[in-house]
Amino acid sequence: MITSIRGFRDIFEPESKLFASLESIARRAFGTYSYSELRIPAVEMHELFVKSTGETTDVVEKEMYSFQDAGERRLALRPEGTPGVARAYIQHNLNSVNPRQKLFYIGGMYRAERPQKGRYREFEQIGVEYIGNAAPSADAETIILLSDILKEAGLARFSVELNSLGCGKCRPAYRESLINFLHKCEDTLCEHCRGRIDKNPLRALDCKIDGPAVGQNAPVQELCPECADHFAAVQKYLDDAGVRYAVNRNMVRGLDYYTKTVFEFKTDLLGSQDSIAGGGRYDSLIKSMGGPDVPAVGWAFGADRVVSMMPPAAGAAEPLKAFVISMGGTADLPAFRLLSGLRRAGVKADGGDFAKSFKAQLRAADKSGAEKLVIIGENEVLKSTCMVKDLKTGGQTEIPALEITTFLGK
Ligand code: HAM
Repeated sequence: MITSIRGFRDIFEPESKLFASLESIARRAFGTYSYSELRIPAVEMHELFVKSTGETTDVVEKEMYSFQDAGERRLALRPEGTPGVARAYIQHNLNSVNPRQKLFYIGGMYRAERPQKGRYREFEQIGVEYIGNAAPSADAETIILLSDILKEAGLARFSVELNSLGCGKCRPAYRESLINFLHKCEDTLCEHCRGRIDKNPLRALDCKIDGPAVGQNAPVQELCPECADHFAAVQKYLDDAGVRYAVNRNMVRGLDYYTKTVFEFKTDLLGSQDSIAGGGRYDSLIKSMGGPDVPAVGWAFGADRVVSMMPPAAGAAEPLKAFVISMGGTADLPAFRLLSGLRRAGVKADGGDFAKSFKAQLRAADKSGAEKLVIIGENEVLKSTCMVKDLKTGGQTEIPALEITTFLGK
């Protein structure tokens, strides 16, 4: 017996229906906000993530599904969508078509993390990347869009944390002071963080082991005037739009490419996996990947996490209106015709297990939860009628077969 791999799930209804409903809510919002869909590959060159997500991030160092294919190329299952979108922007020269690109993606991401509630090795992200707009209103636009989608999905309890990580001008000084601080408390750090103090000190702040303690005592970044203005303006736009948030000057994100604004949407409903969504600005990523010098901002939310918080009603199945059964012989074809006719008229109907005995078909009808049972036997065929039985009340009527759609529509 071959089973699925740990951390990879089979998702049945009603949960799968919640995914579909969430995706359609997001797609509607993307349409309104004028974002267009980009479908990016699930497999990319390993190097892409090393260069963008960051060589010393947990995602790349510990969690990536990376392998060599038959052509001896080093490939990876995408752990996130931003690098693929940035690569596509550069590769297809979108800059020369229109530097301003508002893109969204929906798809599976892969991280070899330790599975637990809300944390899977294959999970779905729904994300946007707004490329080519440096204004703080773009940061605010994406945050407002995210907040709209989550509210529309029925999420009542989430909070927004906001920070600015500065830019190439103000980050270096902060980096130095953080390195000094981390060296002073080096003994208390996990082995992994100790090894990356000089290469990537920021990671100690989002390390699952050291993060909380380091965050409490580490120096806070001073922003240069440009970053401070940008950060204040983002907040002004959010205030004006009525989006509530808390500034958390200790928040860093687990990926390397961020500059200026970063944000996380959190909840207290998911235990230790409290992050619903995360994002921020990444003004130097595309250039650092060999592309044009264009700013960008974006986010992704974990659809699995959002689905687990959605009100169950959104996953409710549409009621089954009718279950059609045949008493056999010459009745099979007219019964099948009637069943197809109902479906083509948009009436949810099932049945058609005509190889089974009448009794077995009745049992299947009972299990189906259908509102009405529609029976056709040789008598009905002769009269071009069908018997309709209400499975709740037990009441039975005979009606002309041609009137079944109108009858069930009532
Ligand atoms: P991230 O914070 O790594 O950001 O992931 C975004 C969201 O994906 C998380 O908030 C969480 O809801 C979900 N997620 C991450 N890992 C798992 C997992 N193992 N199981 C279930 N859900 C998970 C990014 O990926 C960035 N690309 C976001 C971004 C876009 N920044 C700029 N543009």
